[in-house]
Amino acid sequence: MHSNNVIYFDNAATSWPKPEETLQAMEHYLRHVGGNPGRSGHRHSLDAARIVMNAREAVAELFGIQDALNVAFTKNATEALNLATRGLLHPGDHVITSSMEHNSVMRPLRALEKEGLELTVIPCSSSGELDPADLLPAIRRNTRAVYLTAASNVTGTLMPLKEVGMLTREKGLIFCVDAAQAGGSFPLDVTELGIDLLAFTGHKALYGPQGTGGLYIREGLEKDIRPLMMGGTGSRSEFEEQPDFLPDKFEAGTPNTVGLAGLEAGVRFVLRRGVASIRAQEQELAGHLMNGLRTVPGLTLYGPEIPSRKIAVVSFTVEGLSPAEIAMALDEQDMIMSRPGLHCAPSAHKTLGTFPVGTTRFSLGAFNTAEQVQTAVKAVARLTATARRKG
Ligand code: ALA
Repeated sequence: MHSNNVIYFDNAATSWPKPEETLQAMEHYLRHVGGNPGRSGHRHSLDAARIVMNAREAVAELFGIQDALNVAFTKNATEALNLATRGLLHPGDHVITSSMEHNSVMRPLRALEKEGLELTVIPCSSSGELDPADLLPAIRRNTRAVYLTAASNVTGTLMPLKEVGMLTREKGLIFCVDAAQAGGSFPLDVTELGIDLLAFTGHKALYGPQGTGGLYIREGLEKDIRPLMMGGTGSRSEFEEQPDFLPDKFEAGTPNTVGLAGLEAGVRFVLRRGVASIRAQEQELAGHLMNGLRTVPGLTLYGPEIPSRKIAVVSFTVEGLSPAEIAMALDEQDMIMSRPGLHCAPSAHKTLGTFPVGTTRFSLGAFNTAEQVQTAVKAVARLTATARRKG
């Protein structure tokens, strides 16, 4: 058990604590339901199927998806992004992405590049911002898709989804958004933004458990995507071929029903509080955090200076202390949890000029408070003052 005094500022890695209703929904499934959804006809199986469908509907409501069946569940955003890249692209296709992407976008694209994919990585500014005007000149005759994070996991920098969505629609390109960081903490509506594919994870700002996530697939696009896995779906069992319809085409095998029970509860928690109100609270806290850290001598902050241009992810370095030393000291001395290093996003750190050492990252969530922010700022100030005296 951890103490109540823990300051958990690692919500971009995974959110914690989880809402009480997430825990209760998972316990309810394990204790009272327990069936395999869509596999049998008995009441426990039907209840399990209802849980999965409710989770799909909650996710659809959160992201403005008209038909919940266009959500295919995966085990995380990484699997969803592999489906959206390796399942969709062919040698000879050209795709565009940004220099702020996480390795869950970069690694599949780099691997496909070795097999003949053409890849353009548009450089972002030193605060991680993408100028949408840089996109048009990058488009080629064989450009198929644009892959873009909604917000950087290193700096929280928001990407110009609206402008990019307008351009991809106009040019007939597929627009795939990585919502791992922004989903649940920033309003995202696939219809309004012209998003064709949206990868999300359940365990960050959707307040579900790890092992949940999914891919929204625009109606019709499923025909062009090859499943990463094939197997039993509980549907069309008379055929030895994988079903070709959503979501079964991409959901082979028994799903993570206990996880999806928690995911539904987490998303319902977000919907009840309202994404806009969670965003307002996190933006205010991020503003206090950045203002406080700015007063610490020898500390450099990365990313946009104004909280409205980012989600509540704050990266910094301190002269004379490595990110790992800072994170370890904050944990040991003050019970403050942060994530140091490269955050699985080497290209983003190259863009910021913080490669290969990285930064210390504080990432806030719906349960953080102004008091915790004050304590963290004081702790960082104390650490840096001690290091200066020793140095
Ligand atoms: N992608 C997660 C992070 O940024 C794990 O920490």
